[in-house]
Amino acid sequence: MNTIRTTHSGEATNLAAFPLALTTLSGTGAAEIGDLNLSQPLEPLAVTAIRDAIMDFPFLVFRNQSMTKDQQARFSEYFGELESHIGKLSDGTTFPIVHTLTNLDAAGNLINMDVAKLNYFWHTDKSYYAIPAFVTILHALEVPPEGGDTQYANAQLAYEALSPEIKARLTGLMAVHDWQASRRNSGTSPATNEQIRERPPVSHPLVRTHPDTGKKALYLGVHVSHIAGMPQAEGKALLTQLTDHIGQDQFVYTHRWKQGDVVMWDNRCLLHRALPNYEIARHKRVLNRTVIVGAAPY
Ligand code: OGA
Ligand code: MN
Repeated sequence: MNTIRTTHSGEATNLAAFPLALTTLSGTGAAEIGDLNLSQPLEPLAVTAIRDAIMDFPFLVFRNQSMTKDQQARFSEYFGELESHIGKLSDGTTFPIVHTLTNLDAAGNLINMDVAKLNYFWHTDKSYYAIPAFVTILHALEVPPEGGDTQYANAQLAYEALSPEIKARLTGLMAVHDWQASRRNSGTSPATNEQIRERPPVSHPLVRTHPDTGKKALYLGVHVSHIAGMPQAEGKALLTQLTDHIGQDQFVYTHRWKQGDVVMWDNRCLLHRALPNYEIARHKRVLNRTVIVGAAPY
């Protein structure tokens, strides 16, 4: 169990930070946190410590966890308001707040993975919303014996590595994010009229400033339809160039899932994508998912 370090002087200002057992996993801002049981309520100082940790390490993993959906909702709500989802289940009902990503049904048959294919492209969650996601939390219930990895690219490091000339070129550019374009870009089934009505295209700065750290990050991905005010072909070439840049090994952490992992990442400065590197029709991959609402990018 963790204990809260204090000076025992009795003064609240002397309360030391909650001592997280944190191990760095990569130079791209990935870390593992031990010694916490996320199925139980967390003390406020532990929540603050996690919030602080995510500023330095936008990808965090907690191993060997076992949370019910309700427990995951409680853990998620420590970080903000839970997001609803635009997707629909096959029976037409909306996704529940804590929803499940899976490839096989209860009988072990491959389910329709159409929308899941979107995840194979670099993206940042809910960027087609005017108010996109802060963190996404995935809890691995079942994972393939190998593969089924998820990659995280640090869009801050990628931005910093750009030449001054390219940085100057990007200044002030707005990218239009659009659920419809996202379906087109990924070759998945077209958005329904209802989805198009519900989520009209939105513009976000191509370079966004992290509200907590002030650092700049590239903000783009499969949900981008075009750069506002730029000829389509020129914008597309720029987006491809930047996406290729971000996806370079030096900016990327590849997460190899273990059953029980709880992963949370900051969508404001990381892009992510799933890798189709496992036998999808054979091995089950089941993750419970929650998304926390962020704030309008600037
Ligand atoms: C997500 C996502 C990737 C994966 O949950 O937002 O992109 O590997 N998941 O399942
Ligand atoms: Mn995603």
